[in-house]
Amino acid sequence: MPIRIPSHILSLKPYVPGKPIEEVERELGIHGSIKLASNENPIGPSPLALEAIKGEMSNLHRYPEGSGIRLKEALARKHGVSPDQIVLGNGSNEVIELLARAVLSPGDEAVMGDPSFVVYALVTQAVGARLVKVHLREGVHDLPAMAGAVTEKTRIVFVANPNNPTGTANGAREVEPLMSALPADVVAAFDEAYAEYAGRPDYPDTVRYVREGRPAIVFRTFSKIYGLAGIRIGYGVTTPEIADVLERVRQPFNTNRLAQAAALAALSDEAHVARSRRVNEEGKALLSGEFRRMGVSFYPTEANFFYLPLDGRSAKDLSDALLRKGVIVRPMGPAIRVTIGLPEENERFLRALSELLRRGPSPLS
Ligand SMILES: Cc1ncc(COP(=O)(O)O)c(C=O)c1O
Repeated sequence: MPIRIPSHILSLKPYVPGKPIEEVERELGIHGSIKLASNENPIGPSPLALEAIKGEMSNLHRYPEGSGIRLKEALARKHGVSPDQIVLGNGSNEVIELLARAVLSPGDEAVMGDPSFVVYALVTQAVGARLVKVHLREGVHDLPAMAGAVTEKTRIVFVANPNNPTGTANGAREVEPLMSALPADVVAAFDEAYAEYAGRPDYPDTVRYVREGRPAIVFRTFSKIYGLAGIRIGYGVTTPEIADVLERVRQPFNTNRLAQAAALAALSDEAHVARSRRVNEEGKALLSGEFRRMGVSFYPTEANFFYLPLDGRSAKDLSDALLRKGVIVRPMGPAIRVTIGLPEENERFLRALSELLRRGPSPLS
């Protein structure tokens, strides 16, 4: 008898990650390329995290500490909450999924921006719930429109702040009315994967809502500024009630020993975080200056990447042409998204971009 798969699963489109450098080079027969496609930290992991990983290796025959309590305690101190308000995940992606599994039933609705992080759509659809997409306004989450899209079926409103792929952020004065408008049975889910890069002074303190006991969750990750994308660890800060239900649906050992140890060490490595931020700020200044000079439009970014709407020029063609020059970026619909890299990577990208743009719109290759 053929197995029966629910239609909401069959219609899921798998997440397509940026290709690893090795695969791209093999396909194109090139070498020495640079990857600016996945918003990773170009300076690498924290040296303290690497030391901690080495120290933990001889314990690999033992299961990890199931609750990750030492890491939870450190994160609770950082955010001014109690350890039972921290939920660890195999990347913040997993915590996003735990929220969907714990909160959404078939027929419920989740609201998200468009375009925004595709994982919200995946996890919502995977549980048979309905996604309601609200267009961004000039690349920024339109929070009043998102509040307006809430119905009695809504259970989650996802706000990526800064947003992926546009890099833009909403300020505290925009978030406050959203929080006031949301009914008490709707979870405000703030995805702050890039929060540590955000420079605007009015960047919202959303953990405050959690501390006040409002139905909110803040996702953070070690994949970006902490440079630990490959080991997979992230977390949510939320109310004890929401944390309790997420803990019920998670697998017993979802975060591994090396990841827990690396995250704990990275958290204390303020020098690495400061350097990562500095390299990003310098790259941001260089790239935005050159984009202006070249007449390339871009959204103001609060993250470690830029989103370049292409005014009709094909994003796929341009990214393929960049690829042939050994620069891997991410085509995203009508735009390309490029991660801010090391100085020499940024310069190489700019050189390639300016060569291709000088050649005019059609013969990009
Ligand atoms: C907005 C946003 N949230 C979450 C993540 C996932 O991060 P993690 O590696 O912690 O699963 C990303 C990764 O690109 C992201 O852009």
